[in-house]
Amino acid sequence: MYRKLFTVGPVEVRREVLEAMTRPMIVHRGKDYEYLQESIVEKIRKALEIDMDILIAPSSSTGLLEACVRCGVSKKMAGISNGAFGERWQLIGSLNNKTVQKIEVPWGKAARGDFVCGVLQEDVEAVTIVANESSTGVFNPLDDVINAIRAKCDPLIFIDAVTAAFGIDLKLRSLDADAVVFGTQKALALPPGLAIICVSERLLEKAKSVENRGYYFDLLEMKKFADKNLPVTTPPISLMYALDFQLERILREGMKQRYERHRAMAEAVRSWAARKFSLFAEEGCRSDTITVISKGNLKFDQLQEGLGKKGFEISPGYGKIKDSTFRIGHMGDLTVKEIEELLKAMDEVLEALT
Ligand SMILES: Cc1ncc(COP(=O)(O)O)c(C=O)c1O
Repeated sequence: MYRKLFTVGPVEVRREVLEAMTRPMIVHRGKDYEYLQESIVEKIRKALEIDMDILIAPSSSTGLLEACVRCGVSKKMAGISNGAFGERWQLIGSLNNKTVQKIEVPWGKAARGDFVCGVLQEDVEAVTIVANESSTGVFNPLDDVINAIRAKCDPLIFIDAVTAAFGIDLKLRSLDADAVVFGTQKALALPPGLAIICVSERLLEKAKSVENRGYYFDLLEMKKFADKNLPVTTPPISLMYALDFQLERILREGMKQRYERHRAMAEAVRSWAARKFSLFAEEGCRSDTITVISKGNLKFDQLQEGLGKKGFEISPGYGKIKDSTFRIGHMGDLTVKEIEELLKAMDEVLEALT
């Protein structure tokens, strides 16, 4: 049975977007392909209001999170963490033989500029930060953290925007970031399979001096091809058709409207969750794309099963708070009306469970 996804990714994909994937195949070393990639890059720049280089990889987002470390750090980095995905980027650093200064913030709390700066070691080459921590539902105040770091020293700044980009205004036009990573299966509301990175000239310059960048995720190799609107290796062309089509739809909706719709959906979910349960993330730093709910005595599997019978699906908790929380994704192309339908179904299932 079809279940509408109110998950943290992959998320609900509209039929017309799926259908855009059925266009006839083309080869990835020809003019038709070049037009397609160029069109995608232009639309991403327009939507995010940036003029950074946009590189596209045939992978999930983690591939490009690793690329930041492999291409931007020779020896030492800092990783800010207040959840499972912050920890993952720290781990990626360690597994790639970098020294990682771990900057730990309690789960559920936001990273703050003054705290980060107080502990940050000035000899780090890069700092990683997760914009929207999908395990806790915290949206970190990027401008506060980045401005504070820049006032103290000058590392590269890498942002995991996997569940934030295209759902929350990251104000990239005024953030002095060196890498911003996201993928297709979250707020872009597409199937999984493509990762995207916006890179600064500073990062590309730094990469020239970093050894062992590998091949598949070498940002310099990707940039060399991207300058000709070409991929390094064979990309999922069908998904790129859908990405181009979806970006057109997104621009037609308008980014301001899109961000406002996400905020309205988040407010509806938060006010429901605060009445029925409690919210895991601290007030004032709650994400507009994912709400993490402390579930008390609720048996999540029973809730999910009941919702499934009504044609809905949400997400369980993640990381070390997996057993004490569950998550609702309200991103992509979902509407406030659909959120209200979900919340009504949740009420009915919860009522039947008592
Ligand atoms: C914040 C964040 N970072 C990274 C990832 C990993 O993304 P992917 O599975 O596309 O590699 C996720 C996935 O949920 C995420 O939510």
